[in-house]
Amino acid sequence: DKAGHKHFMSKEISEQPMVISNALNFYLNKEGTDIVLPGKGLDFSKIDRMVMVACGTASYACLTAKYWFEQIANLPVEVDVASEFRYREPPIEPGTAALFVSQSGETADTLAALRYCEGKADKIVSVVNVDESSISRESDLALPIHAGTEIGVASTKAFTCQLTVLLLLALKAARARGAISAEDFADKLSSLRALPGIFNHAFENNADFKKSARRLAEAESVLFLGRGLMYPLALEGALKLKEISYIHAEAYASGELKHGPIALIDKKMPVVVMAPRDGLFDKTVSNMQEVMARGGKVMLITDTAGAEEAGDGVWQSLILPQVDPILTPILYALPAQLLAYHTAIAKGTDVDQPRNLAKSVTVE
Ligand code: M6R
Repeated sequence: DKAGHKHFMSKEISEQPMVISNALNFYLNKEGTDIVLPGKGLDFSKIDRMVMVACGTASYACLTAKYWFEQIANLPVEVDVASEFRYREPPIEPGTAALFVSQSGETADTLAALRYCEGKADKIVSVVNVDESSISRESDLALPIHAGTEIGVASTKAFTCQLTVLLLLALKAARARGAISAEDFADKLSSLRALPGIFNHAFENNADFKKSARRLAEAESVLFLGRGLMYPLALEGALKLKEISYIHAEAYASGELKHGPIALIDKKMPVVVMAPRDGLFDKTVSNMQEVMARGGKVMLITDTAGAEEAGDGVWQSLILPQVDPILTPILYALPAQLLAYHTAIAKGTDVDQPRNLAKSVTVE
């Protein structure tokens, strides 16, 4: 049932405020002041490092979480795609937690990577949407994301729910490891509780996303740039766009621009820059200006403060509400999804069942 939407993808995009709220309700105590993990949980004070493994969009959730775990909880994290991890057979030292992220819980490479870690990692943790799945069953600790059934092949609400659960986990780790004060912890939880409302607010700009997407639909190739927490989001934006609109899209960490991709810049290729007005904003803006100086067309996704400061001369700006910088990956997933969605509509592709793709990749 598409609940009045033309596609499951648009229904699932619109459900995000609700399902993020469901995920928060599941993990927060009644007062919303603490994070409670199911079962025996995980004692992060006994963990020295973490490896996170997944495929596709789920691997970008892991990459985002690496920034959170390292910056908030001071816990070193390695991230790998499952198909590489499983055959590289990396050493897993004592004190390692292995964490697997999967919407379906059945992805063959992710499951094989999990099995490789059995008997080697101190704890096998999974962040899954389908509770009764192989990955969930074979984990010591299975953390549900409560996104509800996701039908669109392009993952949307599962991604933002994965991020929500991973951020809660990073905050839990930070507290256990003494890396965050009680005050900051309370502050972050209150920002998280406000997120579904802010997310709702972001939908008000849907018409702008649609208009911008129509212009993206004319491109042969699109470059996505982001720094820090926005780098994995740039990767996700590029993946979403190529999956459903079949437009070639690539993502780079903004700082890598000079090391090669700047050679691609011309008048024809739109460059999507994801840059909330955070501590790295000025750095990203200077990369953006390098693009513009070479005649590149920039689509800047930012907040009001960012647009005021750096919006001059850009091809298009898309504005999102201001949020606690820690939450930007969850909120900025929305423009990544909506741009891809509306571009695909403009191109007339099959949004829910894009060619050559399966919802769950159960063979390697
Ligand atoms: O079910 P999983 O989360 O393990 O699936 C992983 C990827 O196959 C999946 O995220 C894929 O990249 C999506 N089609 C992305 O939209």
